[in-house]
Amino acid sequence: MTEPSLRGRDLEAHLRDPARKQQFVTPMFDIIAPRYDDFTRLFSLGMDARWKGAMLDAVAARVEAGAGALDVACGTGDLAFALQRLVPGARVRGIDASIRMIAEAQRRATTAGDDAPEFHVGDMSALPAATGSVQLVTGGYALRNAPDWRAALAECARVLAPGGLLATLDFYRPANAGWRVLFLGYLRAAGEIVGYAWHRQGIVYGYIAPSIAHFATVAEYERELKAVGLTVEARATHLLGGVAWHVARKG
Ligand SMILES: C[S@@+](CC[C@H](N)C(=O)[O-])C[C@H]1O[C@@H](n2cnc3c(N)ncnc32)[C@H](O)[C@@H]1O
Repeated sequence: MTEPSLRGRDLEAHLRDPARKQQFVTPMFDIIAPRYDDFTRLFSLGMDARWKGAMLDAVAARVEAGAGALDVACGTGDLAFALQRLVPGARVRGIDASIRMIAEAQRRATTAGDDAPEFHVGDMSALPAATGSVQLVTGGYALRNAPDWRAALAECARVLAPGGLLATLDFYRPANAGWRVLFLGYLRAAGEIVGYAWHRQGIVYGYIAPSIAHFATVAEYERELKAVGLTVEARATHLLGGVAWHVARKG
């Protein structure tokens, strides 16, 4: 399959318009899928694994064995595989909009045993699950990429069973203006360099900083959790509000 190209596309115009954002985001993740895991480790200087581990420990302390879990925007399946290991008997499904991300996750699943998670192409803004039917929804760097993150969050809340958990990890727009400029400036420059070096398209990782600029602060996200009926039970913020994870319960 030839690599899609995003050259010449106006990123800001796509980020501003929910009707166009997905047309940029999905081909971008198709491009980076084969090297996504390497990139995540490199770009976070290894912190990604620690953040995910801490969030999943908070989940494992609260979720029952055999729970049904849905990992939205699962990418190559990091959270889904970790859940399968951490929660005995968990039935884990991962969905993602990128065919190539799902192909990577399915390839990993072939060596992960009989109880490996299932992976399907799907949209986090229209989840393939009945209302109130899922005990655990996870999303790593998920909602920020949705065309309308508030609508995607409401969709996650919809499918959760009463008492169910939502666990999310993401980059957020730092509230402090000075830190925001430095943080986003660094991410933009570093992303453009790696994007050019690996794919000859700086924008594929250069996207991260503008996507954060269009996303919520941690405080705004927590207000929205409350608005959709979720109560935060565990949380941590890192990098002065540039990264956070939350575990929140419905009802
Ligand atoms: C930064 S990756 C996160 C992957 C993984 N969850 C992790 O923690 O490493 C974001 C993922 O969101 C997916 N995505 C973007 N828009 C989506 C949508 N509307 N529905 C489902 N997945 C989407 C992308 O294809 C990509 O795989």
